[in-house]
Amino acid sequence: MATGVVIAVNGELSAQVVNATTNYNVAINVHNQLDENLLMTWPGIQMRRNSWQDGVLGSQIGSFFYFPSLNFQRASVGLGAIIINNRNVIAIPFALPDGDIVIFIGDWYTQNHTALRRILDSGEELGMPDGVLINGKGPYQYNTTLVPARIEYETINVDPDIQFFRSKTYRFRVHNVGISTSLNYRIQGHKLLLVETERHYTTQQNFTSFDIHVGQSYSFLVTMDQNATTDYYIVASARFVNESVWERVTGVAISHYSNSKGPATGPLPLPPGDIYNQWSAMNQPRAIRQNTAASGACPNPQGSFHYGSIKVTDTYVLRSLPPVMMGSFILY
Ligand SMILES: *[C@@H]1O[C@H](CO)[C@@H](O)[C@H](O)[C@H]1NC(C)=O
Ligand SMILES: *[C@@H]1O[C@H](CO)[C@@H](O)[C@H](O)[C@H]1NC(C)=O
Ligand SMILES: *[C@@H]1O[C@H](CO)[C@@H](O)[C@H](O)[C@H]1NC(C)=O
Ligand SMILES: *[C@@H]1O[C@H](CO)[C@@H](O)[C@H](O)[C@H]1NC(C)=O
Ligand SMILES: *[C@@H]1O[C@H](CO)[C@@H](O)[C@H](O)[C@H]1NC(C)=O
Ligand SMILES: *[C@@H]1O[C@H](CO)[C@@H](O)[C@H](O)[C@H]1NC(C)=O
Repeated sequence: MATGVVIAVNGELSAQVVNATTNYNVAINVHNQLDENLLMTWPGIQMRRNSWQDGVLGSQIGSFFYFPSLNFQRASVGLGAIIINNRNVIAIPFALPDGDIVIFIGDWYTQNHTALRRILDSGEELGMPDGVLINGKGPYQYNTTLVPARIEYETINVDPDIQFFRSKTYRFRVHNVGISTSLNYRIQGHKLLLVETERHYTTQQNFTSFDIHVGQSYSFLVTMDQNATTDYYIVASARFVNESVWERVTGVAISHYSNSKGPATGPLPLPPGDIYNQWSAMNQPRAIRQNTAASGACPNPQGSFHYGSIKVTDTYVLRSLPPVMMGSFILY
């Protein structure tokens, strides 16, 4: 793969996690050493003072990522994860996971952001990317025709905890940090239990694969309940495109059980088979619901952190009635 210019944070790519708790004050010093202006955006974080940083109003919880938002600089990385944890007084709606793993998936172009910007400015489309990266790394060589040898790939080390005869469960916070490609995320042989998306806990549902569009972040609980005969593939493949053309830009990482007996082999787990039925794209967002039994980041006006336990003092019923004639006037 080609070399190029990337925007690094503290000299590293995608490595800096802001891991904080609601109501924390976080001091972030940003020094711009680029030769153009920089505007960092900090979802989930309420910013004070600075005009060159964007944030949000009020406290939130959940998984986000920060990124440079001007001049298409996002195409050259310069981003990192933001985790906002609940305060201790506010329960999370699931058992504390055994580990917390940040996954960045995203399309990647060999051209730098100024060159890509020029393409868009000229009215052209970016077209197929040169690859899909997982945590900034290329694909595991699952197929020698499609993937060249010796590409550095990501390995996620997990522990099945066979000692206590109980499978460990990890929270995967998956972010699509790309610039134009919707991706389908899946882990071979494992279920993805959706629990949270940017600001809200969700009702909990299992998925075998999940579409993550550009800029979106989701948390899944993944239980390491499969046997360790082999490692397992983690896949991020382009969605709603012609697979036979796009399969050479599929992102593949490895989930490695500490007692694994061998590498992952065989074909990748299949993507959803409905690419020419665009309406099916609506099924997943329609299935995502806020978990109203879970607590919010801030207490409600009655002082409870739990939306479900707000004390109801007055009830108003709004009814719609047909218009009424009063003389020659219509009353609504
Ligand atoms: C974030 O901090 C919490 C509490 O200190 C810790 O349990 C968790 O593992 C951290 N997550 C990451 C991704 O570093
Ligand atoms: C980006 O790419 C263009 C075209 O290849 C090149 O002219 C320019 O110098 C590059 N910019 C940087 C900052 O490397
Ligand atoms: C590798 O991919 C090519 C192209 O899709 C396919 O024809 C071939 O069967 C694959 N090889 C294996 C071993 O799966
Ligand atoms: C999700 O799948 C796991 C593993 O099969 C199962 O134990 C769990 O009950 C499922 N949860 C939901 C909410 O369907
Ligand atoms: C492990 O799981 C795989 C896939 O389900 C199966 O083919 C294999 O026989 C299993 N191995 C053991 C030792 O249970
Ligand atoms: C997918 O692309 C291949 C190669 O260009 C083409 O032969 C095939 O007709 C395309 N499939 C569809 C359904 O468009």
